[in-house]
Amino acid sequence: MTLSTIGADGMPDARTLILKDVDARGWAFAGRGSSRSGAQLAANPVAALTFWWQPMVRAVRVRGRVVRATRAESEADLLSRSAAARAGVPSEDWTLWRLQPTRVEFWQGSTDRRHTRIVYHLNGDGWLMDIAPGGDSSEHSS
Ligand SMILES: Cc1cc2nc3c(=O)[nH]c(=O)nc-3n(C[C@H](O)[C@H](O)[C@H](O)COP(=O)(O)O)c2cc1C
Repeated sequence: MTLSTIGADGMPDARTLILKDVDARGWAFAGRGSSRSGAQLAANPVAALTFWWQPMVRAVRVRGRVVRATRAESEADLLSRSAAARAGVPSEDWTLWRLQPTRVEFWQGSTDRRHTRIVYHLNGDGWLMDIAPGGDSSEHSS
């Protein structure tokens, strides 16, 4: 997935990450706390996630606030990685974050260009759903 954050200069930044888990607590991802993304999330704990499955012509788009998981959860995530992936990573630096969504969009493309966009907005304790035409895309139908 693509994780987008906001830099200290107010500019967006984005990079590719693995989605670790999704549950009621949020959409989990992990990386180094000392990284660029870690610094940006510490200063401004908001983010967007985007996913694209070309064979199914589907995209998912999520935005919300980001919270750090507990140190024990971050360490458990680090331990679940291969030895090669753990090499050189100080365990106190490895951080599991969860994005707590306030808006989730599911986009389904169609070869006849009648794309569908299903948007969920968090409204208090519940979610409001909105189904709308999905807008334009130029080259997905090949
Ligand atoms: C397929 C793929 C998966 C990746 N997964 C992760 C990940 O789960 N965690 C991570 O910190 N970096 C991951 N990376 C590396 C990031 O894209 C990025 O280079 C790194 O997190 C540093 O980004 P930053 O300088 O913006 O913090 C992955 C890269 C690719 C191409």
